[in-house]
This record gives sequence, structure tokens and C-alpha cells, in this order.
Amino acid sequence: MFASASDRRLAKVVDEGLDRVEAGLATEVHFADPIADVSTRYLLEAGGKRVRPMLTLLAAQLGDGVTDDVVTAAQAIEVTHLASLYHDDVMDDADRRRGVPSAQTVWGNTVAILTGDLLFARANQLMSRLGERAIRLQSDTFERLVLGQLHETLGPQPGEDPVAHYVQVLADKTGSLIAAAAQSGVLFSNADAVDPAYERAMLEFGERVGIAFQLVDDVIDLSAKPGETGKVPGTDLRAGVVTLPLLKLRERAAAGDADAADLLGRLERYVIRTAREQLVDALDTNTAAIALAPDPAMVDALVGELREHSVTAETLAEAR
Ligand code: FPP
Ligand code: MG
Ligand code: MG
Repeated sequence: MFASASDRRLAKVVDEGLDRVEAGLATEVHFADPIADVSTRYLLEAGGKRVRPMLTLLAAQLGDGVTDDVVTAAQAIEVTHLASLYHDDVMDDADRRRGVPSAQTVWGNTVAILTGDLLFARANQLMSRLGERAIRLQSDTFERLVLGQLHETLGPQPGEDPVAHYVQVLADKTGSLIAAAAQSGVLFSNADAVDPAYERAMLEFGERVGIAFQLVDDVIDLSAKPGETGKVPGTDLRAGVVTLPLLKLRERAAAGDADAADLLGRLERYVIRTAREQLVDALDTNTAAIALAPDPAMVDALVGELREHSVTAETLAEAR
């Protein structure tokens, strides 16, 4: 099927807009400080799909099109996303991102977190050029991002439905920024003057796209083969992040589905095995011999002993 002339025109507008966003991003993420410049450019140059700017540019078609302000908003949102990735990989203990080792595996947690902070400062500077409304949108979105991440970390509270909790986490940690991307396209192209209903419609659309996007990301975390996505599959499992595929599997296992119970058992053993590997990693300097020992029973015995004394990989890592 051939795309219509208007589809081709739209594709051209978005492509040209993305070029403008990209050209400006390199400048906006430049730091005079040579150390900061290397770590902040690291993940920007490693790749990324630029989905959020694309949505901003598309939404702007409802108004004046790709104005300078629309480009600035798209950049601010992409830089906010970039900042969140540095923090996210520390919290998830993720080894790879965009096909390269994650920032904290290269420079350690402190530098990775501070790099995220620097980028977030730049994102805010960009938004501040667009006035009070933009600053408000940016800070409200940031609040939701952080709350989403916090609730993911804490898990459902007693009596809370795990699926409802999960969907709320997705709406906050992913939907909020994608919604802000779509909403910005309306606001900074003055499309809300054409029809005030556009703002809410694009905001809701963006949020739903965000939830769907994150759901797919969570399935891919469990189904991708290593090297396929630029990330390490199974990162959610290892970090103890309970996603919808796992919730559904638990539901089916509880309802008596033997295949689901078998798969759940295998996933749980995988988590225990990787937790043990992390523990051995944390012990590396003192017990390199154990880490290298071919005898898994020996490692199990060590892990059992440490558990009895409430020693975890986290406390060991902190003690080093
Ligand atoms: C990715 O989720 C993480 C997010 C969408 C945002 C998390 C929010 C923060 C880290 C707080 C925001 C901080 C700043 C500085 C803006 P994921 O781990 O499921 O996705 P992944 O598979 O890409 O790792
Ligand atoms: Mg992650
Ligand atoms: Mg995460």
C-alpha cells in the first residue's frame, strides 16, 4: 500500500523537525567541563529512538507546526528522558543501555547519578525559556516520574490490587513524560488556541501510548535474546521489579495451570541464581577462590551462611 501525499508530507515535516531537534541536542548537552561533557554525551550518542520528540512534532501539526518553541520543548523532554536513564540504570542495576555498558558500569554510581542530575538541570534550563507554563509542566511531570519510580520500588501496599498498582506505576514513570511530550506539541504550537480540547486529548493519548510502550518494554525484558535490544534481558527480574507478565503468570499458576507453575518456578530459580552471582561478585576480593570454584554446593553453603546472618549483597557492597 502506498502512503498518501499527506502522509508523505507529514513524514517529511517530522524528519526535518527531528533533524533540528537532534542538531540542537548536541549543543544543549555540551558542557564546558570536560569530565561532565564526556559522561553526559555518552548515552545521548549511544542511540535512542527519539519517540518523545516525534510525538511533540506530530502534535504541533494541530497548530502552527514545528516552531522554535516546539523544537525547544521536544529537546527538553528528550533530555529529561535521557537524565532518567542514568538514574534508572543505577536503581535497576542494569549493565547495558542502548547497546553500550550503562554509565555506572563505566564510571560508578555516583558519577552516573550526578550525570543524570546535570542533564536534568539542562532540561529545566531549556523548559525555562518557554515560560512559566512550561516550568510547571516540567516540574509536575518530574514529580510523577519520581512517584512512579518510588511506587515501583516499594511495590503494592497491603490490600492494593497488584495489577492496578502496576498500571499506575506505568502511567507515572513512563506515561507522564510521553503525555508531556504530546501536550507540549499542542501548547508550543498554539494549537490550544485553535481548539482548547486538543491539549487534554493529546495528553490522554500520550499517556496511553506511554502505558502501552512500557508494557511492551516489560514483555521484551522477559522475551528478548541477549544482544537484541541494547539492554540485558531479565533486568526487571533481577532487580525484583514485578511486571505484568509475571503477575499474569502468578495468577495462572495460582489457578492450577501446571505449565505456568513450572515456568514460574524456573524464573524464581533464575532470580535466586543471579542473586547468588551478585553476592559472589560483591565478595570478589576476599573470596575470589570461591567465586571461581567449580563447586556450586560450596557457593550455596556460603550463601546460606550469609543469609542466616542477614548479610545481603547490598550490605556487602556497601561495606566495601
Ligand atoms: C525506565 O523504566 C525508567 C523510567 C521510565 C523513569 C524512572 C524515573 C526516574 C529514574 C526518576 C527521574 C529522574 C530524572 C533525573 C529525570 P524501566 O526500568 O522499566 O525501563 P528500561 O527497560 O528502559 O530500563
Ligand atoms: Mg530500567
Ligand atoms: Mg526501572
